[in-house]
Amino acid sequence: MQTFEEYLASLLQSRMDSKVKDAMMYALLNGGKRIRPQLLFAVLKSYGQTIQKGMTTAAAIEMIHTYSLIHDDLPAMDDDTLRRGKPTCHVAFDEATAILAGDALLTLAFELIVTQPFDAKTCLGIAKECAIASGMEGMILGQTRDLEGENKQYFKESELQQIHLYKTGKLLSLPLICGSLLSGHSDDIETWRNIGTSIGLAFQIQDDVLDVTSNEETLGKNIGSDIANHKSTYVSIMGIETAKEKANALLQDARNLWDQLNIHKEPMEEIFKNLIHRSR
Ligand code: IPE
Ligand code: IPE
Ligand code: MG
Ligand code: MG
Ligand code: MG
Repeated sequence: MQTFEEYLASLLQSRMDSKVKDAMMYALLNGGKRIRPQLLFAVLKSYGQTIQKGMTTAAAIEMIHTYSLIHDDLPAMDDDTLRRGKPTCHVAFDEATAILAGDALLTLAFELIVTQPFDAKTCLGIAKECAIASGMEGMILGQTRDLEGENKQYFKESELQQIHLYKTGKLLSLPLICGSLLSGHSDDIETWRNIGTSIGLAFQIQDDVLDVTSNEETLGKNIGSDIANHKSTYVSIMGIETAKEKANALLQDARNLWDQLNIHKEPMEEIFKNLIHRSR
């Protein structure tokens, strides 16, 4: 059986050659932790479904996420030069190609979602959730607030929480929601959305912590990027230790929520351990 990595590569290899295709392959393949696909697969397993059912949706979500990273690294945004252990897309290619590669990953994701061999209701449900999570009231809203917040001196925790919930939380909730849709358990969506909110906030808090505590070799991206960009983060407003405690408490909230669902707990527990102990 094809691995997820092989499947992801095959989705681009079969396409017409172009510089943009090269940039898309460069950014998408090799190096990402694939946390969002893993979350989707964990939800499917927790309902006793095969992960095969979620391969295309997981690939589409990873493409949307990768597009968000390519654009996040651009000079007009965080201006970073290292991503997934390699020079960022605009450094390896050029700015225009990186912008187009991001655009093309986003649109390809939707092509894949709506051409899946599922009933129209399921495909549309997934497309709608992906559009909302990545759009102007989702990840994009968080990114715009994040940029507006640069150089702002007094940030309330509640304001920062909103940024994190949108820029990161929305795309981390997405695979959980899609997993419950694909499993035919749309009644559980709101619980998964709440689980995603806690995991998403914890994940971004840990990202803020790693920006100051990790090193570039382990993390595969520039460290100290938030400080260089004068961003307010959980670390800058409450310190490393309190930020870590907050992230652990949020992950515990997520665990309490999935305890309420009628699912096999092991797949979520496994990914939970990775989220708590992640060093990159
Ligand atoms: C990085 O996401 C950006 C954030 C939302 C914090 P990941 O830490 O999942 O990055 P990859 O996919 O492993 O490169
Ligand atoms: C980025 O947050 C979130 C998105 C890409 C949507 P960061 O700017 O903190 O992510 P990194 O640290 O560059 O991965
Ligand atoms: Mg950013
Ligand atoms: Mg960044
Ligand atoms: Mg960061």
